[in-house]
Amino acid sequence: MTRHFLRDDDLSPAEQAQVLELAAAMKKDRFGYRPFEGPRTVAVLFDKPSARTRVSFHTGIGELGGLPLVVDNVSVLMGRGEPVADLARVLDRQVSAIVWRTTGQALIDEMAAHSRVPVVNALTDEFHPCQILADLQTVHERLGRTAGVTLTYLGDGANNMAHSYLLGGATAGMHVRIAGPAGYQPDAVILDQAAAIAAKTGGSVVALSDPVAAAQGTHVIATDTWVSMGQEGKEERVAALRPYQVNGELLEHAAHDAIVLHCLPAYRGNEITAEVLEGPRSVVWDQAENRLHAQKALLHWLVSGGTGRGGQGMG
Ligand code: CP
Ligand code: NVA
Repeated sequence: MTRHFLRDDDLSPAEQAQVLELAAAMKKDRFGYRPFEGPRTVAVLFDKPSARTRVSFHTGIGELGGLPLVVDNVSVLMGRGEPVADLARVLDRQVSAIVWRTTGQALIDEMAAHSRVPVVNALTDEFHPCQILADLQTVHERLGRTAGVTLTYLGDGANNMAHSYLLGGATAGMHVRIAGPAGYQPDAVILDQAAAIAAKTGGSVVALSDPVAAAQGTHVIATDTWVSMGQEGKEERVAALRPYQVNGELLEHAAHDAIVLHCLPAYRGNEITAEVLEGPRSVVWDQAENRLHAQKALLHWLVSGGTGRGGQGMG
């Protein structure tokens, strides 16, 4: 059965660990894995702007020996009103995987429902699961583990990053705290789904409104833009989220060796101060680099049918 990665919980805890282990191995031996040699083509489609996702998929597919087909403006493919289901059935005859950054999750679900090759979510309005794999890799590198680690996300608790921290963090056995004001709390269904995963992995999830309580003793502080792509009402959002800024004062409540994550792009002076982003606790550049390694591992794992052993170089 074709495996897709549409949301974080499409990987079981054991599978997520397998992908992250492969990502660490690939980081150590960056050019040693060539499973896409041939080359196999991977379509990478964007309905929204991107720097990190675009560069890391393009670079990573090339490093795996494959050919990236990057389409920055999907209207080039889909501007004539053709259904997603038709595009899926055209692409899957030719490419080995489809990576898509789009708006609603329903669109990528529709692509996957009609594709015989793996479909990967490169960010939707609801989830950003590739980013969370890179974040987990970064946490593991810095803290030596993910299970049992407490991660506090502050800001827009209703956005794609918050939802992916809930599902992906719970899958990794983390204790995930999401802190945001009323109106910016996670989707209740996703929170429940994450709680069910956490109950099996030994993790936990909680939605809070007090930023200081959420930061207390935490090992990882994470944040994201207060205005995601496609969202309106910037002034109102910034005013509501101001108390959730990641700054030096907030960091004092965290563990003394806590690390700070930001998926980028960052808006200094809003969700994070320049001092913290550029300071000693920030690991954002490693985090951005790990997009490359985590996604290479994910693609290899998916294309080899979820075994991680389908291609040349894996033995
Ligand atoms: N973090 C992230 O996904 O960055 P881009 O939007 O630049 O791809
Ligand atoms: N929440 C942000 C993430 C950007 C990588 C957005 O969707 O714009």
